[in-house]
Amino acid sequence: MNVLHVCANPKPTEESVSKQLSVAFFSALAQTNPEFEVNNVDLYQDQPPFVSYDAYRGFWFPVIIDGYQPTDDDKEAMAYAERHGKMFNEADVIVLSTPMWNYAVPGILKAWLDQVISPSITFRMEKDGPHPIHHVRRIILLVASGGTYKEDDPDDALTRQIRAAFGFLGITDIAIAWADGQNPIFYNDSITRKQMAIEMAQEMAEEVAEIE
Ligand SMILES: Cc1cc2nc3c(=O)[nH]c(=O)nc-3n(C[C@H](O)[C@H](O)[C@H](O)COP(=O)(O)O)c2cc1C
Repeated sequence: MNVLHVCANPKPTEESVSKQLSVAFFSALAQTNPEFEVNNVDLYQDQPPFVSYDAYRGFWFPVIIDGYQPTDDDKEAMAYAERHGKMFNEADVIVLSTPMWNYAVPGILKAWLDQVISPSITFRMEKDGPHPIHHVRRIILLVASGGTYKEDDPDDALTRQIRAAFGFLGITDIAIAWADGQNPIFYNDSITRKQMAIEMAQEMAEEVAEIE
């Protein structure tokens, strides 16, 4: 079992609820199934570039222009995506730990998605649509937000974005532990909400350990 953990949070763990969910998840996973390998990607340590024109050409020109071969500049601009796409494609499970910022994922996580969800990186684009190169079976989304959100809340662009982006790659198994209501000025049950999300993350680790 290979697990890729992508963390999109600049804060230290003691100040970050979503990072605390990831600690709970990986501690529980270690207890239930020691037979797994984890690759940790801290996006603030290994920052994704925005997709440049060179990278765009390298990703998309081979799809839209018959016989196009990426130039050296294209290849250089695709290096981050190649490196991170390899980790993505080796993973059985991807864990994303992220805060909600402006109702969606932080820009740094969106930049990572724009790199790795590209043709020749995690899928091949053919006439009938995208064909996965990866074999990811489940996404674990560990998220914290200041406000509270009901199911299918129109203000929640985060889970919608994650479902749509990974759905494009054929990944529809997405488990979510969400510590919402973490703004203690508005919610006096922030700690209970966090604890419930921690327990959910632990249960999700037990379920991941059962994946063959
Ligand atoms: C730049 C920024 C934008 C934020 N936007 C939202 C938001 O749109 N909705 C929300 O509920 N909370 C928002 N928050 C609050 C965070 O989601 C909340 O503090 C959460 O606990 C962050 O996760 P963390 O504790 O793992 O850092 C925002 C916080 C920051 C710093």
